Amino acid sequence: MSSIKHVAIIMDGNGRWAKRRFRPRIWGHVRGSSVVSEIVRSADDLGLKALTMYAFSTENWSRPLDEVSTLFRLLRKFIIKERTRILQNNIKFRVIGELQSLPHETVELINEIESLTSGATGLHLTFAFNYGGRAEILRAINTFQVTNPERLMTEADLSELMYRPETGDVDLMIRTGGEQRISNFLLWQMAYAEMYFTPTKWPDFTPREFCKIIEHVSSRERRFGSICEQVGLNSSVERADTNKSAYFQGVTFNV
Ligand code: FPP
Repeated sequence: MSSIKHVAIIMDGNGRWAKRRFRPRIWGHVRGSSVVSEIVRSADDLGLKALTMYAFSTENWSRPLDEVSTLFRLLRKFIIKERTRILQNNIKFRVIGELQSLPHETVELINEIESLTSGATGLHLTFAFNYGGRAEILRAINTFQVTNPERLMTEADLSELMYRPETGDVDLMIRTGGEQRISNFLLWQMAYAEMYFTPTKWPDFTPREFCKIIEHVSSRERRFGSICEQVGLNSSVERADTNKSAYFQGVTFNV
């Protein structure tokens, strides 16, 4: 088994992917949302404990209205489309972020799927939506100060006050799209995470590349047989091979 249990992903490059094809940016997000489904399936096949995906940051409100509303719509569509599979596969679905500013029907849908999967013991699938890492930490500090005015906060206290403490620390953060930044994502939980940056734009990201990254990062500690071949991901080999150079250009380093 791989030592990588919790993978966090910054799904970047949708806009540039679309622009290169002379399409509006939202086209990239629509295409990107099908990749989300494929990667969730792979994470489940690979036996990961948790997958956290950055779908909408608090900074994304500054984007054009049609782009913001497309991202909201894609989240709703994902929940509706994947609902059966989420339930059948025992996936625990959650959304982290400031949900009170989202449209009422989106919040209702999130609440419903969260409560239906609250007892699930499989993959913890979390979307960070209207999420900011600093805001999450500040919220935790403020909550602690109100409830424990008499003592100093510990690391364990802060970890417990994150949106979803049970998901724990991130083992590996992958960012697609070529930028090498954390962009206010899971700042507390990524303190010891491995980082992997790939130039592949999110709509071109494949289960094969995902698996290869996990294999590559895991192999620093221990050599694995080819886990990618064992999890039925061969269907994407052909498309992934065109990404091979992108994979090998990926930058990894320990922090
Ligand atoms: C960054 O790419 C990506 C986002 C802001 C949103 C990511 C969202 C999805 C992949 C689809 C959402 C799907 C679900 C199921 C919630 P960018 O547009 O900033 O890319 P760019 O850097 O090329 O402009």
